[in-house]
Amino acid sequence: MFTTTVFALIAALPVALSQTQNDETILGVYMLHRHGDRTAKITAPANLTDLGYRQVYTSGEYYRNRYIVEDSAYRISGISPDVVFQSQLQVSAPIDAVLQNSATGFLQALYPPVGTSANTETLRNGTEVTAPMEGYQLVPIGVAESGSGSEDSTWLQGTSDCARAEISSNEYFSSDEFNEMMSQTEDFYSRLLPVISGEFDETTANFEDAYTIFDFVNFATIHNATISSADLLDKETLFQLRTLADNHEWNLAYNASNPIRAVAGMTLAAQIVQFLETTIEDAGTETGQKLGIQFGAYATFAAFFGLANLHSVNVDFVGVTDYASSMVFEMFTKTSDAVTAENYPSEDDIYVRFLYHNGTATEDSPPTPYPLFGSGQEALSWTDFSNSMNEFALGDTGSWCVACGNITGECAAYNSDQSGSDSDTASDNVESCSNGMSAIFNGVIGALVTLAVILGLEASVMLIFGLRVVSKKTLAQASPGGVEKGF
Ligand SMILES: *[C@@H]1O[C@H](CO)[C@@H](O)[C@H](O)[C@H]1NC(C)=O
Ligand SMILES: *[C@@H]1O[C@H](CO)[C@@H](O)[C@H](O)[C@H]1NC(C)=O
Ligand SMILES: *[C@@H]1O[C@H](CO)[C@@H](O)[C@H](O)[C@H]1NC(C)=O
Ligand SMILES: *[C@@H]1O[C@H](CO)[C@@H](O)[C@H](O)[C@H]1NC(C)=O
Ligand SMILES: *[C@@H]1O[C@H](CO)[C@@H](O)[C@H](O)[C@H]1NC(C)=O
Ligand SMILES: *[C@@H]1O[C@H](CO)[C@@H](O)[C@H](O)[C@H]1NC(C)=O
Repeated sequence: MFTTTVFALIAALPVALSQTQNDETILGVYMLHRHGDRTAKITAPANLTDLGYRQVYTSGEYYRNRYIVEDSAYRISGISPDVVFQSQLQVSAPIDAVLQNSATGFLQALYPPVGTSANTETLRNGTEVTAPMEGYQLVPIGVAESGSGSEDSTWLQGTSDCARAEISSNEYFSSDEFNEMMSQTEDFYSRLLPVISGEFDETTANFEDAYTIFDFVNFATIHNATISSADLLDKETLFQLRTLADNHEWNLAYNASNPIRAVAGMTLAAQIVQFLETTIEDAGTETGQKLGIQFGAYATFAAFFGLANLHSVNVDFVGVTDYASSMVFEMFTKTSDAVTAENYPSEDDIYVRFLYHNGTATEDSPPTPYPLFGSGQEALSWTDFSNSMNEFALGDTGSWCVACGNITGECAAYNSDQSGSDSDTASDNVESCSNGMSAIFNGVIGALVTLAVILGLEASVMLIFGLRVVSKKTLAQASPGGVEKGF
Protein backbone atom coordinates (compact mmCIF):
# COMPACT_ATOMS: atom_id res chain seq x y z
CA MET A 1 0.00 0.00 0.00
CA PHE A 2 2.89 2.27 0.84
CA THR A 3 4.39 1.88 -2.62
CA THR A 4 1.14 2.67 -4.41
CA THR A 5 0.82 6.05 -2.71
CA VAL A 6 4.45 6.73 -3.30
CA PHE A 7 4.24 6.11 -7.01
CA ALA A 8 1.22 8.35 -7.31
CA LEU A 9 3.31 11.04 -5.66
CA ILE A 10 6.22 10.68 -8.05
CA ALA A 11 3.94 10.92 -11.03
CA ALA A 12 2.57 14.21 -9.75
CA LEU A 13 5.94 15.78 -9.07
CA PRO A 14 7.64 16.74 -12.33
CA VAL A 15 4.80 19.15 -13.09
CA ALA A 16 5.66 21.33 -10.13
CA LEU A 17 9.22 21.53 -11.29
CA SER A 18 9.61 24.10 -14.00
CA GLN A 19 12.39 26.06 -12.29
CA THR A 20 13.67 29.15 -14.00
CA GLN A 21 16.84 28.73 -16.00
CA ASN A 22 19.88 30.22 -14.28
CA ASP A 23 23.34 31.13 -15.45
CA GLU A 24 25.11 28.45 -13.45
CA THR A 25 25.95 24.85 -14.10
CA ILE A 26 26.34 22.46 -11.19
CA LEU A 27 29.41 20.26 -11.44
CA GLY A 28 29.12 18.19 -8.30
CA VAL A 29 27.37 18.01 -4.93
CA TYR A 30 28.24 16.63 -1.51
CA MET A 31 25.48 16.17 1.04
CA LEU A 32 25.25 15.26 4.72
CA HIS A 33 21.83 13.94 5.67
CA ARG A 34 20.32 13.11 9.04
CA HIS A 35 18.15 10.03 9.47
CA GLY A 36 14.37 10.27 9.67
CA ASP A 37 12.15 9.92 12.74
CA ARG A 38 13.23 6.96 14.89
CA THR A 39 12.40 5.33 18.19
CA ALA A 40 14.04 6.78 21.29
CA LYS A 41 17.70 6.11 22.02
CA ILE A 42 16.95 5.07 25.58
CA THR A 43 14.89 2.12 24.29
CA ALA A 44 17.76 0.78 22.17
CA PRO A 45 18.03 -0.68 19.61
CA ALA A 46 16.57 2.32 17.84
CA ASN A 47 14.61 1.77 14.64
CA LEU A 48 13.59 4.02 11.80
CA THR A 49 9.81 4.51 12.00
CA ASP A 50 7.45 4.56 9.01
CA LEU A 51 7.20 8.30 9.55
CA GLY A 52 11.00 8.51 9.40
CA TYR A 53 11.06 6.39 6.26
CA ARG A 54 8.58 8.82 4.71
CA GLN A 55 10.73 11.80 5.67
CA VAL A 56 13.92 10.53 4.05
CA TYR A 57 11.96 9.32 1.02
CA THR A 58 10.39 12.77 0.62
CA SER A 59 13.80 14.39 0.92
CA GLY A 60 15.11 11.98 -1.74
CA GLU A 61 12.30 13.11 -4.04
CA TYR A 62 13.21 16.72 -3.45
CA TYR A 63 16.88 16.18 -4.26
CA ARG A 64 16.05 14.02 -7.27
CA ASN A 65 14.04 16.92 -8.64
CA ARG A 66 16.77 19.41 -7.84
CA TYR A 67 19.87 17.57 -9.00
CA ILE A 68 18.94 14.65 -11.25
CA VAL A 69 15.89 15.13 -13.46
CA GLU A 70 16.69 16.41 -16.89
CA ASP A 71 14.76 19.67 -16.88
CA SER A 72 15.96 20.99 -13.51
CA ALA A 73 17.95 24.23 -13.51
CA TYR A 74 20.12 22.73 -10.75
CA ARG A 75 20.75 19.43 -12.48
CA ILE A 76 24.26 18.12 -11.90
CA SER A 77 25.92 18.32 -15.27
CA GLY A 78 26.17 14.90 -16.92
CA ILE A 79 24.45 12.92 -14.18
CA SER A 80 22.39 9.98 -15.40
CA PRO A 81 18.73 11.05 -15.16
CA ASP A 82 16.92 7.73 -14.70
CA VAL A 83 19.09 4.66 -14.62
CA VAL A 84 21.74 4.76 -11.89
CA PHE A 85 25.30 5.09 -13.16
CA GLN A 86 27.12 3.61 -10.18
CA SER A 87 30.44 5.46 -10.43
CA GLN A 88 28.70 8.86 -10.48
CA LEU A 89 27.24 8.25 -7.05
CA GLN A 90 28.97 7.69 -3.72
CA VAL A 91 26.72 6.93 -0.75
CA SER A 92 27.85 6.11 2.77
CA ALA A 93 26.46 5.59 6.25
CA PRO A 94 27.95 4.21 9.46
CA ILE A 95 27.11 0.67 10.54
CA ASP A 96 23.86 1.65 12.20
CA ALA A 97 20.40 0.33 11.38
CA VAL A 98 18.68 3.74 11.52
CA LEU A 99 21.24 5.49 9.33
CA GLN A 100 21.67 2.64 6.84
CA ASN A 101 17.92 2.31 6.40
CA SER A 102 17.56 6.05 6.03
CA ALA A 103 20.10 5.98 3.22
CA THR A 104 18.17 3.20 1.49
CA GLY A 105 14.86 5.05 1.83
CA PHE A 106 16.42 8.21 0.43
CA LEU A 107 17.93 6.36 -2.53
CA GLN A 108 14.61 4.73 -3.38
CA ALA A 109 13.33 8.18 -4.21
CA LEU A 110 16.57 9.58 -5.64
CA TYR A 111 16.60 6.85 -8.27
CA PRO A 112 13.15 5.29 -8.27
CA PRO A 113 12.32 2.04 -10.09
CA VAL A 114 12.58 2.64 -13.84
CA GLY A 115 9.89 0.22 -14.95
CA THR A 116 10.42 -2.84 -17.08
CA SER A 117 11.57 -1.21 -20.30
CA ALA A 118 14.72 0.47 -18.99
CA ASN A 119 15.77 -2.33 -16.70
CA THR A 120 15.43 -5.43 -18.89
CA GLU A 121 18.24 -7.51 -20.30
CA THR A 122 18.24 -10.23 -22.93
CA LEU A 123 20.15 -13.40 -22.11
CA ARG A 124 22.22 -15.44 -24.56
CA ASN A 125 19.34 -17.85 -25.04
CA GLY A 126 16.95 -15.03 -25.84
CA THR A 127 15.12 -14.97 -22.52
CA GLU A 128 14.30 -11.46 -21.26
CA VAL A 129 14.93 -10.75 -17.57
CA THR A 130 13.52 -7.72 -15.76
CA ALA A 131 14.78 -6.32 -12.45
CA PRO A 132 12.41 -7.16 -9.56
CA MET A 133 9.89 -4.64 -8.23
CA GLU A 134 9.22 -2.76 -11.47
CA GLY A 135 12.86 -2.12 -12.24
CA TYR A 136 13.99 -1.32 -8.70
CA GLN A 137 17.55 0.03 -8.71
CA LEU A 138 20.32 -1.07 -6.39
CA VAL A 139 22.85 1.40 -5.01
CA PRO A 140 25.63 0.21 -2.71
CA ILE A 141 25.99 2.05 0.60
CA GLY A 142 29.57 2.31 1.76
CA VAL A 143 30.51 2.19 5.42
CA ALA A 144 31.35 5.58 6.89
CA GLU A 145 34.44 5.28 9.07
CA SER A 146 33.16 6.56 12.37
CA GLY A 147 29.75 6.73 13.98
CA SER A 148 28.95 3.01 14.16
CA GLY A 149 25.89 2.40 16.30
CA SER A 150 25.49 6.13 16.81
CA GLU A 151 21.70 5.99 17.08
CA ASP A 152 21.95 3.46 19.89
CA SER A 153 24.61 5.36 21.74
CA THR A 154 23.29 7.86 24.25
CA TRP A 155 26.64 9.52 24.63
CA LEU A 156 27.54 11.74 21.75
CA GLN A 157 31.31 11.33 21.61
CA GLY A 158 31.10 7.59 22.27
CA THR A 159 31.20 6.77 18.57
CA SER A 160 33.90 9.22 17.48
CA ASP A 161 36.67 6.79 18.42
CA CYS A 162 38.93 9.78 18.98
CA ALA A 163 40.65 9.74 22.37
CA ARG A 164 41.18 13.49 22.78
CA ALA A 165 37.66 14.31 21.57
CA GLU A 166 36.23 11.99 24.21
CA ILE A 167 38.37 13.60 26.87
CA SER A 168 37.38 17.06 25.66
CA SER A 169 33.67 16.25 25.75
CA ASN A 170 34.09 14.70 29.16
CA GLU A 171 35.65 17.94 30.40
CA TYR A 172 32.32 19.60 29.75
CA PHE A 173 30.83 17.56 32.58
CA SER A 174 33.18 19.17 35.05
CA SER A 175 32.84 22.70 33.66
CA ASP A 176 31.18 25.56 35.54
CA GLU A 177 28.66 25.90 32.69
CA PHE A 178 27.55 22.33 33.18
CA ASN A 179 27.38 22.42 36.97
CA GLU A 180 25.37 25.61 36.87
CA MET A 181 22.85 24.06 34.47
CA MET A 182 22.66 20.94 36.64
CA SER A 183 21.57 22.87 39.70
CA GLN A 184 19.35 25.35 37.85
CA THR A 185 17.31 22.59 36.20
CA GLU A 186 17.02 20.16 39.10
CA ASP A 187 13.39 21.05 39.85
CA PHE A 188 12.44 21.15 36.19
CA TYR A 189 13.51 17.57 35.58
CA SER A 190 12.17 16.12 38.81
CA ARG A 191 8.74 17.66 38.07
CA LEU A 192 8.77 15.63 34.83
CA LEU A 193 9.27 12.31 36.59
CA PRO A 194 5.63 11.24 36.26
CA VAL A 195 6.05 11.40 32.47
CA ILE A 196 9.45 9.78 32.16
CA SER A 197 9.54 7.41 35.14
CA GLY A 198 9.31 4.41 32.79
CA GLU A 199 12.91 5.03 31.74
CA PHE A 200 14.37 7.54 34.22
CA ASP A 201 14.41 7.81 38.01
CA GLU A 202 15.39 10.41 40.63
CA THR A 203 19.07 9.78 39.97
CA THR A 204 18.94 10.02 36.16
CA ALA A 205 16.21 12.62 35.62
CA ASN A 206 18.57 15.59 35.42
CA PHE A 207 20.49 17.81 33.01
CA GLU A 208 23.20 15.20 32.54
CA ASP A 209 20.67 13.23 30.50
CA ALA A 210 19.18 16.31 28.84
CA TYR A 211 19.27 14.90 25.33
CA THR A 212 18.14 11.39 26.18
CA ILE A 213 15.18 12.76 28.12
CA PHE A 214 14.24 15.19 25.35
CA ASP A 215 14.61 12.39 22.80
CA PHE A 216 12.36 10.07 24.81
CA VAL A 217 9.66 12.72 25.29
CA ASN A 218 9.96 13.84 21.67
CA PHE A 219 9.32 10.29 20.48
CA ALA A 220 6.35 9.98 22.84
CA THR A 221 4.78 13.27 21.72
CA ILE A 222 4.89 12.02 18.13
CA HIS A 223 3.87 8.38 18.64
CA ASN A 224 2.33 7.73 22.03
CA ALA A 225 -1.38 8.45 22.42
CA THR A 226 -1.35 7.42 26.10
CA ILE A 227 1.49 9.32 27.76
CA SER A 228 1.05 9.27 31.53
CA SER A 229 0.61 12.75 33.06
CA ALA A 230 0.65 14.21 29.55
CA ASP A 231 -0.74 17.46 30.95
CA LEU A 232 2.76 18.19 32.31
CA LEU A 233 3.99 18.51 28.75
CA ASP A 234 2.72 21.98 27.92
CA LYS A 235 4.27 24.01 25.14
CA GLU A 236 6.63 25.86 27.43
CA THR A 237 7.91 22.64 29.03
CA LEU A 238 8.50 21.01 25.66
CA PHE A 239 10.41 24.07 24.51
CA GLN A 240 12.51 23.99 27.68
CA LEU A 241 13.26 20.32 27.21
CA ARG A 242 14.41 20.98 23.67
CA THR A 243 16.57 24.00 24.40
CA LEU A 244 18.19 22.33 27.39
CA ALA A 245 19.04 19.38 25.15
CA ASP A 246 20.31 21.82 22.50
CA ASN A 247 22.59 23.48 25.02
CA HIS A 248 23.90 20.15 26.32
CA GLU A 249 24.58 18.66 22.89
CA TRP A 250 26.12 21.79 21.42
CA ASN A 251 28.58 21.99 24.29
CA LEU A 252 29.50 18.33 23.86
CA ALA A 253 29.96 18.73 20.11
CA TYR A 254 31.79 22.03 19.89
CA ASN A 255 33.94 24.31 22.02
CA ALA A 256 35.76 27.15 20.29
CA SER A 257 38.72 26.97 22.66
CA ASN A 258 38.90 23.20 22.44
CA PRO A 259 38.57 22.41 18.72
CA ILE A 260 39.26 18.64 18.79
CA ARG A 261 35.86 18.21 20.44
CA ALA A 262 34.41 18.81 16.95
CA VAL A 263 36.41 15.96 15.40
CA ALA A 264 33.31 14.66 13.58
CA GLY A 265 33.13 17.93 11.65
CA MET A 266 36.85 17.80 10.91
CA THR A 267 36.70 14.40 9.25
CA LEU A 268 33.52 15.39 7.42
CA ALA A 269 35.26 18.50 6.05
CA ALA A 270 38.05 16.35 4.64
CA GLN A 271 35.58 13.96 3.04
CA ILE A 272 33.75 16.84 1.39
CA VAL A 273 36.92 18.43 -0.01
CA GLN A 274 38.31 15.10 -1.17
CA PHE A 275 35.08 14.18 -2.91
CA LEU A 276 34.82 17.49 -4.73
CA GLU A 277 38.53 17.45 -5.60
CA THR A 278 38.05 14.08 -7.27
CA THR A 279 35.01 15.42 -9.06
CA ILE A 280 37.17 18.22 -10.49
CA GLU A 281 39.88 15.73 -11.46
CA ASP A 282 37.30 13.54 -13.18
CA ALA A 283 36.55 16.65 -15.25
CA GLY A 284 33.02 15.92 -16.34
CA THR A 285 33.65 12.46 -17.77
CA GLU A 286 30.66 10.15 -17.82
CA THR A 287 32.23 7.77 -15.29
CA GLY A 288 33.41 10.61 -13.02
CA GLN A 289 31.88 10.97 -9.55
CA LYS A 290 29.27 13.69 -9.22
CA LEU A 291 27.07 13.22 -6.18
CA GLY A 292 28.29 12.23 -2.72
CA ILE A 293 25.77 11.53 0.02
CA GLN A 294 26.59 10.69 3.61
CA PHE A 295 24.11 9.83 6.30
CA GLY A 296 25.16 10.85 9.77
CA ALA A 297 24.13 11.89 13.26
CA TYR A 298 23.12 15.37 14.43
CA ALA A 299 26.41 15.64 16.29
CA THR A 300 28.29 15.75 13.00
CA PHE A 301 26.07 18.61 11.85
CA ALA A 302 26.68 20.51 15.09
CA ALA A 303 30.44 19.96 14.99
CA PHE A 304 30.61 21.23 11.43
CA PHE A 305 28.31 24.20 12.13
CA GLY A 306 30.65 25.25 14.91
CA LEU A 307 33.84 24.85 12.86
CA ALA A 308 32.34 26.70 9.87
CA ASN A 309 31.18 29.50 12.16
CA LEU A 310 27.55 29.15 11.12
CA HIS A 311 26.28 29.81 14.66
CA SER A 312 27.50 33.38 14.30
CA VAL A 313 25.31 33.79 11.20
CA ASN A 314 22.19 32.40 12.84
CA VAL A 315 21.96 31.33 16.46
CA ASP A 316 19.54 28.53 15.47
CA PHE A 317 22.58 26.54 14.41
CA VAL A 318 23.33 25.77 18.05
CA GLY A 319 20.08 23.76 18.17
CA VAL A 320 19.93 20.04 17.43
CA THR A 321 19.09 19.70 13.74
CA ASP A 322 15.70 18.05 13.08
CA TYR A 323 15.15 14.59 11.64
CA ALA A 324 15.87 14.26 7.90
CA SER A 325 17.80 17.55 7.83
CA SER A 326 20.32 17.99 5.06
CA MET A 327 23.25 20.23 4.30
CA VAL A 328 24.68 20.40 0.81
CA PHE A 329 27.78 21.74 -0.88
CA GLU A 330 27.02 22.70 -4.45
CA MET A 331 30.05 23.06 -6.67
CA PHE A 332 29.28 25.08 -9.78
CA THR A 333 30.65 27.21 -12.56
CA LYS A 334 29.16 30.41 -13.93
CA THR A 335 27.86 29.38 -17.31
CA SER A 336 24.52 28.09 -18.50
CA ASP A 337 26.21 26.06 -21.27
CA ALA A 338 26.42 22.32 -20.90
CA VAL A 339 29.72 21.37 -19.31
CA THR A 340 31.47 18.37 -20.80
CA ALA A 341 34.95 16.86 -20.55
CA GLU A 342 35.92 19.12 -23.50
CA ASN A 343 35.00 22.48 -21.96
CA TYR A 344 35.45 21.63 -18.28
CA PRO A 345 36.21 24.82 -16.30
CA SER A 346 39.54 25.48 -14.64
CA GLU A 347 39.67 25.65 -10.83
CA ASP A 348 39.60 29.45 -11.02
CA ASP A 349 36.11 29.29 -12.48
CA ILE A 350 34.72 26.90 -9.90
CA TYR A 351 32.67 27.99 -6.87
CA VAL A 352 31.03 26.33 -3.89
CA ARG A 353 27.80 27.24 -2.15
CA PHE A 354 26.53 25.86 1.17
CA LEU A 355 22.84 25.20 1.70
CA TYR A 356 21.01 23.79 4.68
CA HIS A 357 17.51 22.64 5.45
CA ASN A 358 16.25 21.97 8.96
CA GLY A 359 14.07 18.87 8.63
CA THR A 360 12.71 17.36 5.43
CA ALA A 361 13.36 19.50 2.35
CA THR A 362 10.48 19.89 -0.11
CA GLU A 363 9.59 22.06 -3.11
CA ASP A 364 7.65 24.32 -0.74
CA SER A 365 10.44 24.47 1.80
CA PRO A 366 13.76 24.17 -0.03
CA PRO A 367 17.23 24.46 1.53
CA THR A 368 18.61 27.95 2.16
CA PRO A 369 22.12 29.19 1.38
CA TYR A 370 24.25 30.40 4.31
CA PRO A 371 27.71 32.00 4.27
CA LEU A 372 30.49 29.73 5.54
CA PHE A 373 33.45 30.71 7.74
CA GLY A 374 32.03 34.13 8.55
CA SER A 375 32.75 35.18 4.94
CA GLY A 376 29.39 36.89 4.47
CA GLN A 377 29.27 35.38 0.96
CA GLU A 378 26.90 32.72 -0.29
CA ALA A 379 29.36 31.47 -2.87
CA LEU A 380 33.08 31.04 -2.36
CA SER A 381 35.74 30.41 -4.96
CA TRP A 382 36.96 26.83 -4.96
CA THR A 383 40.36 27.98 -3.67
CA ASP A 384 38.92 29.96 -0.76
CA PHE A 385 36.51 27.18 0.07
CA SER A 386 39.05 24.36 0.05
CA ASN A 387 41.66 26.44 1.91
CA SER A 388 39.20 27.33 4.67
CA MET A 389 37.99 23.75 4.97
CA ASN A 390 41.55 22.46 5.09
CA GLU A 391 42.27 24.69 8.05
CA PHE A 392 40.40 22.19 10.20
CA ALA A 393 39.95 19.12 7.98
CA LEU A 394 41.40 15.81 9.15
CA GLY A 395 41.82 13.80 6.01
CA ASP A 396 44.28 10.97 6.60
CA THR A 397 44.92 8.41 9.28
CA GLY A 398 48.21 9.98 10.36
CA SER A 399 46.85 13.45 11.09
CA TRP A 400 43.76 11.93 12.70
CA CYS A 401 45.90 9.80 15.04
CA VAL A 402 48.09 12.74 15.99
CA ALA A 403 45.16 15.12 16.53
CA CYS A 404 43.26 12.51 18.53
CA GLY A 405 46.26 11.40 20.55
CA ASN A 406 45.52 7.79 19.63
CA ILE A 407 48.59 5.59 19.63
CA THR A 408 47.44 2.00 19.43
CA GLY A 409 45.99 -0.16 16.65
CA GLU A 410 46.24 1.50 13.26
CA CYS A 411 47.60 4.59 14.98
CA ALA A 412 50.70 2.81 16.34
CA ALA A 413 52.53 3.53 13.08
CA TYR A 414 52.15 7.29 13.59
CA ASN A 415 53.39 7.39 17.16
CA SER A 416 56.81 8.98 16.76
CA ASP A 417 57.81 8.67 20.41
CA GLN A 418 57.14 5.34 22.10
CA SER A 419 59.14 6.02 25.24
CA GLY A 420 56.83 8.52 26.88
CA SER A 421 57.84 10.77 29.72
CA ASP A 422 56.87 11.58 33.26
CA SER A 423 53.13 11.80 33.93
CA ASP A 424 53.58 15.19 35.59
CA THR A 425 53.82 16.69 32.10
CA ALA A 426 50.79 14.89 30.78
CA SER A 427 48.46 17.88 30.86
CA ASP A 428 50.93 19.99 28.88
CA ASN A 429 51.27 17.35 26.24
CA VAL A 430 47.57 17.11 25.49
CA GLU A 431 47.65 20.66 24.17
CA SER A 432 50.85 20.23 22.18
CA CYS A 433 50.11 16.78 20.84
CA SER A 434 51.12 17.58 17.28
CA ASN A 435 54.77 18.01 18.25
CA GLY A 436 54.74 14.26 18.88
CA MET A 437 56.59 14.71 22.16
CA SER A 438 54.87 12.12 24.28
CA ALA A 439 51.69 11.14 22.59
CA ILE A 440 51.50 8.13 24.86
CA PHE A 441 50.22 10.27 27.69
CA ASN A 442 47.43 11.82 25.70
CA GLY A 443 45.62 8.51 25.71
CA VAL A 444 46.11 8.31 29.45
CA ILE A 445 44.66 11.73 30.24
CA GLY A 446 41.19 10.24 30.04
CA ALA A 447 42.13 7.78 32.70
CA LEU A 448 43.39 10.64 34.83
CA VAL A 449 40.12 12.53 34.51
CA THR A 450 38.24 9.49 35.73
CA LEU A 451 40.85 8.90 38.35
CA ALA A 452 40.49 12.39 39.72
CA VAL A 453 37.03 11.32 40.78
CA ILE A 454 38.21 7.96 42.07
CA LEU A 455 41.06 9.60 43.95
CA GLY A 456 38.63 11.97 45.55
CA LEU A 457 36.65 9.00 46.79
CA GLU A 458 39.79 7.23 47.90
CA ALA A 459 40.92 10.24 49.82
CA SER A 460 37.84 9.97 52.00
CA VAL A 461 38.28 6.22 52.36
CA MET A 462 41.87 6.77 53.36
CA LEU A 463 40.92 9.37 55.90
CA ILE A 464 38.66 6.86 57.53
CA PHE A 465 40.77 3.71 57.21
CA GLY A 466 44.25 5.20 57.08
CA LEU A 467 45.17 3.41 53.84
CA ARG A 468 48.38 4.12 51.90
CA VAL A 469 48.37 6.45 48.90
CA VAL A 470 49.06 4.93 45.47
CA SER A 471 50.75 7.36 43.10
CA LYS A 472 48.73 8.79 40.20
CA LYS A 473 51.34 7.51 37.82
CA THR A 474 50.94 3.91 38.96
CA LEU A 475 47.18 4.17 38.67
CA ALA A 476 47.33 5.76 35.25
CA GLN A 477 49.56 3.00 33.95
CA ALA A 478 47.34 0.38 35.48
CA SER A 479 44.23 1.47 33.56
CA PRO A 480 44.88 3.38 30.37
CA GLY A 481 41.92 4.49 28.29
CA GLY A 482 39.62 4.42 31.27
CA VAL A 483 37.38 7.25 30.21
CA GLU A 484 35.56 5.78 27.20
CA LYS A 485 31.79 5.85 27.40
CA GLY A 486 31.24 7.35 30.80
CA PHE A 487 27.66 8.41 30.27
C1 LIG B 1 13.61 -2.17 17.07
O1 LIG B 1 13.51 -3.39 16.33
C2 LIG B 1 14.02 -4.51 17.00
C3 LIG B 1 13.84 -5.70 16.10
O2 LIG B 1 14.31 -5.41 14.82
C4 LIG B 1 13.30 -4.75 18.31
O3 LIG B 1 13.91 -5.80 19.02
C5 LIG B 1 13.35 -3.48 19.15
O4 LIG B 1 12.56 -3.64 20.32
C6 LIG B 1 12.84 -2.29 18.37
N1 LIG B 1 12.99 -1.09 19.18
C7 LIG B 1 11.95 -0.36 19.58
C8 LIG B 1 12.27 0.79 20.45
O5 LIG B 1 10.82 -0.60 19.24
C1 LIG C 1 17.65 -19.29 -20.57
O1 LIG C 1 18.70 -19.14 -19.59
C2 LIG C 1 18.24 -18.88 -18.24
C3 LIG C 1 19.45 -18.63 -17.35
O2 LIG C 1 20.44 -19.58 -17.53
C4 LIG C 1 17.39 -20.04 -17.74
O3 LIG C 1 16.89 -19.77 -16.44
C5 LIG C 1 16.21 -20.24 -18.71
O4 LIG C 1 15.47 -21.38 -18.31
C6 LIG C 1 16.70 -20.41 -20.15
N1 LIG C 1 15.53 -20.42 -21.04
C7 LIG C 1 15.42 -21.31 -22.02
C8 LIG C 1 14.19 -21.16 -22.85
O5 LIG C 1 16.25 -22.16 -22.20
C1 LIG D 1 41.34 5.84 20.15
O1 LIG D 1 41.42 5.87 21.57
C2 LIG D 1 40.18 5.69 22.23
C3 LIG D 1 40.39 5.88 23.72
O2 LIG D 1 41.48 5.16 24.17
C4 LIG D 1 39.64 4.30 21.91
O3 LIG D 1 38.38 4.13 22.52
C5 LIG D 1 39.48 4.18 20.41
O4 LIG D 1 39.06 2.88 20.07
C6 LIG D 1 40.79 4.50 19.71
N1 LIG D 1 40.52 4.50 18.28
C7 LIG D 1 41.36 3.96 17.39
C8 LIG D 1 40.93 4.01 15.96
O5 LIG D 1 42.42 3.48 17.71
C1 LIG E 1 35.54 24.99 26.64
O1 LIG E 1 36.94 24.78 26.69
C2 LIG E 1 37.61 25.58 27.65
C3 LIG E 1 39.10 25.34 27.47
O2 LIG E 1 39.38 23.96 27.53
C4 LIG E 1 37.09 25.25 29.05
O3 LIG E 1 37.70 26.10 29.99
C5 LIG E 1 35.57 25.46 29.09
O4 LIG E 1 35.06 25.05 30.34
C6 LIG E 1 34.91 24.65 27.99
N1 LIG E 1 33.50 24.94 27.99
C7 LIG E 1 32.60 23.97 27.89
C8 LIG E 1 31.18 24.41 27.90
O5 LIG E 1 32.88 22.80 27.78
C1 LIG F 1 3.19 5.34 26.12
O1 LIG F 1 3.42 5.92 27.39
C2 LIG F 1 3.00 5.10 28.48
C3 LIG F 1 3.16 5.90 29.75
O2 LIG F 1 4.09 6.90 29.69
C4 LIG F 1 3.84 3.85 28.50
O3 LIG F 1 3.45 3.02 29.58
C5 LIG F 1 3.66 3.11 27.19
O4 LIG F 1 4.49 1.98 27.15
C6 LIG F 1 3.96 4.02 26.02
N1 LIG F 1 3.62 3.36 24.78
C7 LIG F 1 4.45 3.31 23.74
C8 LIG F 1 3.95 2.63 22.52
O5 LIG F 1 5.57 3.82 23.78
C1 LIG G 1 16.10 23.33 13.69
O1 LIG G 1 14.84 23.31 14.28
C2 LIG G 1 14.82 23.12 15.69
C3 LIG G 1 13.39 23.14 16.13
O2 LIG G 1 12.62 22.24 15.43
C4 LIG G 1 15.61 24.21 16.36
O3 LIG G 1 15.68 23.94 17.73
C5 LIG G 1 17.00 24.29 15.79
O4 LIG G 1 17.68 25.38 16.36
C6 LIG G 1 16.92 24.46 14.29
N1 LIG G 1 18.27 24.48 13.73
C7 LIG G 1 18.62 25.31 12.74
C8 LIG G 1 20.03 25.28 12.31
O5 LIG G 1 17.83 26.06 12.18
